[in-house]
Amino acid sequence: MEAFRVTGGARLAGTVAVPGAKNSVLKLMAAALLAPGRTTLTKVPHILDVEVMADIARGLGVDVDYTPERGEVMMDVPADLGCEIDPDLAKKMRASISMMGALVARNGRAVVALPGGDAIGARGLDIHIGGLTAMGADFELQPGSLVASAPNGLRGARLNLDFPSVGATENLLMAAVLADGTTVLDNVAREPEIVDLITMLNDMGARIEGAGSPTLIIEGVDALWPTEHATVPDRIVAGTWAAMAAMTMGDVVVENVVSAHLALPLRRLVEMGAEVDSRPDSIRVRMDRRPLAVDVRTLPYPGFATDLQPQFIALNAIAEGVAMVTENLFESRFAFVSALAAFGAKVSTDGHHAMIRGRPKLTGATVTATDVRAGVGLVMAGLVADGVTTVLDVHHIDRGYANFTDLVTALGGKIERVDEASI
Ligand code: EPU
Repeated sequence: MEAFRVTGGARLAGTVAVPGAKNSVLKLMAAALLAPGRTTLTKVPHILDVEVMADIARGLGVDVDYTPERGEVMMDVPADLGCEIDPDLAKKMRASISMMGALVARNGRAVVALPGGDAIGARGLDIHIGGLTAMGADFELQPGSLVASAPNGLRGARLNLDFPSVGATENLLMAAVLADGTTVLDNVAREPEIVDLITMLNDMGARIEGAGSPTLIIEGVDALWPTEHATVPDRIVAGTWAAMAAMTMGDVVVENVVSAHLALPLRRLVEMGAEVDSRPDSIRVRMDRRPLAVDVRTLPYPGFATDLQPQFIALNAIAEGVAMVTENLFESRFAFVSALAAFGAKVSTDGHHAMIRGRPKLTGATVTATDVRAGVGLVMAGLVADGVTTVLDVHHIDRGYANFTDLVTALGGKIERVDEASI
C-alpha cells in the first residue's frame, strides 16, 4: 500500500492538461464488445481501472493492447465473444457491470459478479435489471453473481427510468442498439460521458437519436462495425485542478477540457471569489483571497457533479462563512467529512446535508482515502494545512487521477509518494 506525504503552504501555478474521462473510457471499452473486429480508443487515461477493464475484456477472449504512454487502447473483438466476467476482476470495479448490456446483446447471456468499486452507498442495480427485463432478458441471482439471459434475443421497449442513472442509461443503450425494433428511453442520464458513448455507438452504425436530452430513441440494427474514437476530456479531473487552484490561492491553466461541461462548478468558484477565464477548451483559474463560503447541491448533469462534491467541501473548510453541501446521489460520500475533521475543519453532517464552518487555518493530519474523490479532497486539505499531511490508501486516487503526484509537483505543490510500510 502507498501513501502521499503532502507539505502544506505551496501555491499551485502553471499549466496542466487533462486526459480522457475515466467514466467514459470504461464504457467505451464495453461498447467495443458490440462489434467484432478492431476498435481503437484514443485519449485514454493512464489509470488502474483501464487496466482492470482490459483484463476483464481479455477474459472474454478479446485481444487488448493498452499503451498508456500513447493514451491508446486497441481491442480486437472475436466473433465468438465469451460471456462470463471474471468475478475477482469484477469485484475490483463497479464499471464491470456496464458490460452486461453489451454481452446480453451480443451473446444472449451475461454472467457478471456483483460489482465492487468505491464504498459510497448502496448503488442498486434495479434500474439496469428492470430495463433489461422489459427488453426480454431473464435474471437469476446466483451466489455472488448475476446471470442475465435472452436466448431469443432482446426486443425494443418503451422505458421510463425511475432515476437518470448513468450506469443504467449506458447499459440499456448498449443493449438496445442490437435489439429487435425500437427502444424509447425516457428520463435518461445526460452526462457528457453518455453523449460520448452515443457518438461512438452511432459511428459504429447504431441509430440513436436524442443525445444530451432526457429521451433517447434507439432503432435496433442487425450488427455494428468497429471504429476509432477519442475519449471525451475528463471534466471531473479538470474541475479538481480548478478547485485546487482556488484552494491554494494559485493560478492554473487547465487544458484539453470542454469548459461547457463545467459551467456550474466554475460558477461556484467565481462566487467563491476566483477569477475564471473560460475558453472553449481551456480554463484559467486564479484566486488571490480566502474563498467565500458557497452552498453546493449535487444533482445529475447538468446539475453539480457528485464527483466534485468533496473538493468543494474542502474549499468550504477554509472559506469565510458557513456553507451547506447537500449530497443527493451517494449517501455514503460524507465519510470524507469526518476525515476532514482531523485537519481541524469545523464540519457536521445530518443525513444528506453537511454544514461547513470555514476556518482560516487547517492543521496537517494522517488520514485515509475512502474513495477516489474523497482522496483528492484530502490532498487538497493537505496542500493548505500547516505542516505535513499523510494520506493513506492512495490506490483509490490512482483509480481516477493519472500521474497525480508528478502533475501536482510540476505545478509547485509539495507531494511525494511513499510506501505505507515506511511510515
Ligand atoms: N441507482 C439505483 N438503482 C440503479 C442504478 C442507480 O438506485 O439501478 C442509484 C445509485 O444507488 C445512486 C444513484 O442512483 O444512488 C446514481 O447512480 P448512477 O447509476 O447514476 O451512477 P453510477 O453509474 O453507479 C457513475 C460514475 C460515478 C458517478 C455517478 C454519478 C462510473 C464508473 N461511475 O456511477 O463516478 O459518481 O455516475 O455521476 O461511471 C467517480 O468517478 O468517483 C464515481 C463514483
